[in-house]
Amino acid sequence: MKNKVFLITGGTSGIGLACAIYLEKQQCNVIITGRNQKTLETALQQLGSNATGFVSDTSKLTAIDQLVFNVKEKFQKIDGMFINAGIFKAASFEETTESVFDETMNINFKGAFFTIQKFIPLLRNPSSIVLNTSIVVFKAFANTSVYTASKAALEGIAKVLNVELAPKGIRINVVSPGVTQSPIQKKSGMTDAAIDDLLKHFSETAPIGRIVQPTDIAPIVSFLLSEHSWVLRNEKIIIDGGTTL
Ligand SMILES: NC(=O)c1ccc[n+]([C@@H]2O[C@H](COP(=O)([O-])OP(=O)(O)OC[C@H]3O[C@@H](n4cnc5c(N)ncnc54)[C@H](OP(=O)(O)O)[C@@H]3O)[C@@H](O)[C@H]2O)c1
Repeated sequence: MKNKVFLITGGTSGIGLACAIYLEKQQCNVIITGRNQKTLETALQQLGSNATGFVSDTSKLTAIDQLVFNVKEKFQKIDGMFINAGIFKAASFEETTESVFDETMNINFKGAFFTIQKFIPLLRNPSSIVLNTSIVVFKAFANTSVYTASKAALEGIAKVLNVELAPKGIRINVVSPGVTQSPIQKKSGMTDAAIDDLLKHFSETAPIGRIVQPTDIAPIVSFLLSEHSWVLRNEKIIIDGGTTL
């Protein structure tokens, strides 16, 4: 992994930041993105000199073009990407507005789709892409309908891309985290009490006896980005401490 270059979208907090910290410890160069300059700077303070950050809103195609330009200028080529940027807004199916629908699909699916497409010329042969989906794709959770659709759509393209992009040496695998303690819960619109209940429930019912942390996910993403997983294509690793067993 030494000197490899990996892009992590949404690397300024939670799972993305934990992965950036882990990969940098493996002597990789990491590029992180997020929408907010201040958050980006705070994240970069937790990383070392092998980390680079760019403000880039993945839901905007012009911003993805600019990101490709910036990454090409600094690194020319990259060895892989963790497609991780995502949001979750809790809303019942009946109360999901067009604006929540569009925002969720634009970030979680459309942004991921065009980030992969636009980075193809920069991806080395071989390279690895890891998609961050969720257990919601196969287990129903109330108040997650559009989030579930966005993650199912993302997971759905993995197999197609594995066929189309294989001649370029690009392979795609998926991590499917369970409820993981991160800032996403607070940003979702859930009350503090609801978040406490959620984390307590999953801590008490998970076979591992605690909630999944972003640091649990980082080594698994690192494995999927590394040459050790070369033979894996369209593999999905469920990282939920056994909650969906
Ligand atoms: N935590 C969980 O329980 C869980 C479970 C399964 C899957 N996941 C998935 O894991 C991924 C990371 O979530 P997390 O839990 O680590 O949450 P988080 O701490 O809120 O991190 C989300 C990251 O995505 C970035 N982001 C959001 N919208 C963006 C946009 N339009 N453009 C660029 N970056 C954007 C955020 O930065 P800014 O807000 O500053 O832009 C932040 O860096 C998400 O895709 C989420 O769906 C999480």
